[in-house]
Amino acid sequence: MENNLFLQSAFSQKTERPPVWMMRQAGRFMPQYWEIKNKYSFLEMCKTPEIAADVTMLPVDLLDIDAAILFSDILVTGEAMGGDLSFTQGVGPKFANPVRTQVDIDNLNTDCLDKLQYVADAIKVIQQRLNCKIPLIGFAGAPFTVMSYLVEGGSSRDFKLTKLMLHNEPEMAHQLLAKIAKVTADYLNLQIEAGVNAVQIFDSWAQALAWDDYKEFSHRYIAEIISNLNRKNIPVISFCKGSSVFAPLMAEAKPDIISIDWNVDLLDIKQRLPQNIAVQGNLDPHILYAEKHVIKERIHRLFNRMKDTPGFIFNLGHGIMPDIPFDNVKYAVEVIKEFKY
Ligand code: CP3
Repeated sequence: MENNLFLQSAFSQKTERPPVWMMRQAGRFMPQYWEIKNKYSFLEMCKTPEIAADVTMLPVDLLDIDAAILFSDILVTGEAMGGDLSFTQGVGPKFANPVRTQVDIDNLNTDCLDKLQYVADAIKVIQQRLNCKIPLIGFAGAPFTVMSYLVEGGSSRDFKLTKLMLHNEPEMAHQLLAKIAKVTADYLNLQIEAGVNAVQIFDSWAQALAWDDYKEFSHRYIAEIISNLNRKNIPVISFCKGSSVFAPLMAEAKPDIISIDWNVDLLDIKQRLPQNIAVQGNLDPHILYAEKHVIKERIHRLFNRMKDTPGFIFNLGHGIMPDIPFDNVKYAVEVIKEFKY
């Protein structure tokens, strides 16, 4: 690999500066994304390897970041299991056949890797284009977060139906989560087999859960997935919104990296984790709306806090919002790349 910063930090080795990539870097804040998006539907983009590769490469070419992330979505596992998935502009993702009863759960297919073969094909095209320049991160949704979309039928503010299933029908919830966990482990292994250099598990909505529920309905399945990965030397990143609270528990699942939200002092949480676990984070993405001197000051503040601490990867505490000015993101990457410990 030409640029090894990300993998060095992933394994807690010293680097001359922190590596940078950003969640949702392959997305809507780039005008060039819209040029492609205006021609195809989102799922068409995900399922056509050449187009998925084009979008994956946009932030590589335009921002010069230290790691690429596969262009896809966390909900493709739900679709492969039988969910009738669509994405509508302004509405977001929808499953037309939500999973709410025992019969719905029984009907979900867990032997569905053939339906996700397009992702393996995309990974191969992307790796040809990357040509060993920087690592490629693959990903999947965590069972609880994917379950929430399957049960609610789409995005939700309060996860009412999902939590009702956890609390009133825990056995059903466990069956559903176990099915998703099986497909997710298979799917990540397919990505590893196809050639990704790291994988990230996104548990975007874990923060909605109480500690005990997180442990029983989310953490347990993430731990199961990680233990079932053919990891070789592929680092595993565990991300959740809520990691500022759940990180010590997340560490028990033995990821290599925990991706931390912005509610916590990053050095403080790093010091509370086992030494061999790296952290990724944790700038509030809203900083990227601010004036450039603020962006620079906040990045320097974070880096000065983390200096002398190997095992730190710069990222946002959550994804880039679609209306963040492209110029600000580009500026942030420049500030990071000029930094020297
Ligand atoms: O990080 C990257 O750039 C890689 C690509 C990526 C997408 N989605 C592309 C996408 C990744 C890693 C995801 C993960 C994802 N998808 C998550 C977890 C990440 C996080 O930030 O917590 C979640 C919760 C989803 C589900 C999802 N997909 C939602 C809620 C939406 C709609 C959001 C909205 O505001 O409309 C999507 C669609 C989606 N996924 C888009 C992109 C680029 C936008 C699609 C479009 O162009 O219309």
